[in-house]
Amino acid sequence: MDNKRIIIAIDGHSSCGKSTFAKAIAARLGYIFIDTGAMYRAVTLYAQENGAILNGIVDEERVEAMLKDIEIDFRFNAQRGASDIYVNGDLVEGKIRTIEVSNSVSAVSSIGAVRQMLVAMQQQMGRKGGVVMDGRDIGTVVFPNAELKIYMTADAMVRAERRYKELTAKGDNVTLDEIYENVVSRDKADMSRAISPLRKADDAIVLDNSYMSVEEQMTWFDEQYQRVING
Ligand code: DC
Repeated sequence: MDNKRIIIAIDGHSSCGKSTFAKAIAARLGYIFIDTGAMYRAVTLYAQENGAILNGIVDEERVEAMLKDIEIDFRFNAQRGASDIYVNGDLVEGKIRTIEVSNSVSAVSSIGAVRQMLVAMQQQMGRKGGVVMDGRDIGTVVFPNAELKIYMTADAMVRAERRYKELTAKGDNVTLDEIYENVVSRDKADMSRAISPLRKADDAIVLDNSYMSVEEQMTWFDEQYQRVING
């Protein structure tokens, strides 16, 4: 076993299984997994619950003014084998993945002050290495020197079908059409925003998992990881 604890940056499109993949890698390596999308979702939820998003319209100035009142932290949940996210001490893990939050999160994450606050937190959390961080700008902005960068993607309809299954299994009342629409519009918003748009870092390796099982993805990962560790 080697003792080198690196930073693994995973970026890519919405709903392509980044978190599942990142969580599996972290468990395998004994690393910390940080889901940065959950942080943008938590800020969105807080804004929604505190009147800064009305009828889907995000009041950027109010969101910005609220940031000082938002304290985010992660606490490990042994049952889930991953960390749960808390806002001001309240567990919000179960409330941040609704379609309402998904529909506003791109707008909230395009606000400069939001990104500034969350990027600084992410850099602090990952500074010692031994982390797998997933998001949109990890390999480009948060950790441009990460030793291993992976850019994940999958066909948009395959992604919508996966998310649809997840949400309906939880009992959410959604249609495949609305999920597909959300996936495509978030891709567009994430890739075209002015600050830190989603893009592949020049030194990232692409993983298209449209037709790959989690096991196949792990085999692929092991090869990439060995290549980096063995230099
Ligand atoms: O990974 P996710 O779908 O839970 O992310 C939710 C949203 O947060 C996504 O639409 C874009 C934004 N996001 C971001 O802008 N930067 C990140 N590092 C992570 C997520």
